[in-house]
Formats: sequence, C-alpha cells, structure tokens
Amino acid sequence: MSVDAIIETRHVDKQFGDFVALKDVSVKIPKGKLTSIIGPNGAGKSTYFNVLSGAFPPTRGTVLFEGKDITGLKPHEYAHLGIAKSFQITNLFPNFTVLENVRIALQAHVSRYSLWRKRESLQGLREQALELLSLVGLADRSGGLARELAHGQQRALEIAVALAAKPKLLLMDEPTAGMSPEETKTMMGLILDLVKDRTVVLVEHKMKMVMGISDHVVVLHHGQLLAEGSPDEIRDNETVKAVYLGQGH
Ligand SMILES: Nc1ncnc2c1ncn2[C@@H]1O[C@H](COP(=O)(O)OP(=O)(O)OP(=O)(O)O)[C@@H](O)[C@H]1O
Ligand SMILES: [Mg+2]
Repeated sequence: MSVDAIIETRHVDKQFGDFVALKDVSVKIPKGKLTSIIGPNGAGKSTYFNVLSGAFPPTRGTVLFEGKDITGLKPHEYAHLGIAKSFQITNLFPNFTVLENVRIALQAHVSRYSLWRKRESLQGLREQALELLSLVGLADRSGGLARELAHGQQRALEIAVALAAKPKLLLMDEPTAGMSPEETKTMMGLILDLVKDRTVVLVEHKMKMVMGISDHVVVLHHGQLLAEGSPDEIRDNETVKAVYLGQGH
C-alpha cells in the first residue's frame, strides 16, 4: 500500500531484558486519518504506543516522522515535533479549574518573550483554552474543578490539555477505558471531530468499538504485525478472526 505516512516504524523490536515485546514491526500511519492499533491483551499495543510517542526507544529498527529519522530522540523532542499523547488523567491538576488546566498547558508552549502578543496574553490564552474546551465539549464546565468532573469528562479534559501543544499527531491509549456506554459514544464522536484537523492513532483492545470509526486498522499479536488494512479487510481476515475468536470483543 502506498500511503502518505506521518509516522512510520521500520523493523522495530522492543525488548525488556530477554522478553521480546515487539518484533519486526513495520507500519506506516497514514496522515490525516484515524488509525487504530488493536490486538488481544498483552499483544504489545501499549509498548508500540510508547515507541510512537518517544517514551520507549526501540531496541532495534527505525522511527520516521514526516520522512525524518527520529529514532532515539527524547520524549520532549517528540513533543516538539508535534507528537502528543493522551493516556492518563494524572496529567491533570485536580484542584485547579477545568479552564486553568488547559490554560497552564497552553502557557507551557508560549515563549516567555512573546507574552505581550495578543493571542499569548492572559486573556488570549483564556480564549484559546475556551476554544479547546468547546471542541471537547467541556465549555460549560470551565469554571468547575477538574476533580469534580465525571471520568469521561476528565478524559476529554486530558485531550484538551494534549491539544494545547497543537500536535500534528495525537496518540491515545484506550481513550474509552472505564467509560460508560454513553461516555464511550461521546468520546468516539469527539475522536471523529479531532481527526478532521489532525492525524489520530488509537490503541484499543475492543475491536468492535473502533471498526466503525477507523480509516485504517493495525493488528498486533504476540508483539508482531498480524494484519493491517481497512476495517472491512480486517473484519474479513481469517487470521484476525481466529485470534479474536471467543474473546468476547
Ligand atoms: N516495562 C516492561 N517490562 C517488562 N515487560 C513489559 C513491560 N511493558 C510491557 N511488558 C510486557 O510486554 C508485553 C506487551 O505488553 P503491552 O502492555 O504492550 O500489551 P498491550 O497490548 O497494551 O496489552 P493490554 O491490552 O493488556 O493493554 C506483555 O507481555 C507485557 O507483560
Ligand atoms: Mg495496553
């Protein structure tokens, strides 16, 4: 398949001691699309997520971002390139307001020499924070404390915080984990909104859930690439079916 890849791994291995968590994973993540990385428990999804986000340098192989070799760069250098991740609510300041959480994140990306610029003044940052909160459906909660939000809303806030960095690529590990069906539906709608303006990669073990919204699906199993393709191709893939059979996903 010929794709315009935003990020790509070539022959990536990741070992923890003698344990091989990823083996020879070569994948291109198409630009501007929603790609889901799926696979049974322990397949290596989170490990792969951590390779894509720069948290885990691969043991072997190469990571390319927009065609440039970024293997082994530090996580903050990945962030600087425009790669953001959203995966844990511990990034939030629970006793700060919802708005302040986003404003602080925006401020972290402003040079202290440009604070006089309108968009980067306190009022400008407030407005940008409100724009992001509207995008994730939290505008009406902006004055409340982060810790008072429901679980699904905290995940949405976490996404707004990640978006403050204006990423080209947003990585999400199980964004609907622990969510009610209603919260899951809201989050899926939000993800579809996000992919209109950027590339999104989801890591998910619930296969059915991502099939309806993904453009591209990558299946990992025992740390290896088992299959990739459109949701229809993956749904019809006999090997994938065999791996998921009886797992209730
Ligand atoms: N830091 C680590 N040290 C040692 N082994 C690890 C480490 N991280 C992951 N592993 C192992 O690597 C394998 C893949 O783990 P990973 O978390 O990537 O799987 P996963 O597909 O995300 O699973 P899940 O669906 O449960 O989230 C597992 O066997 C896990 O025990
Ligand atoms: Mg995982």
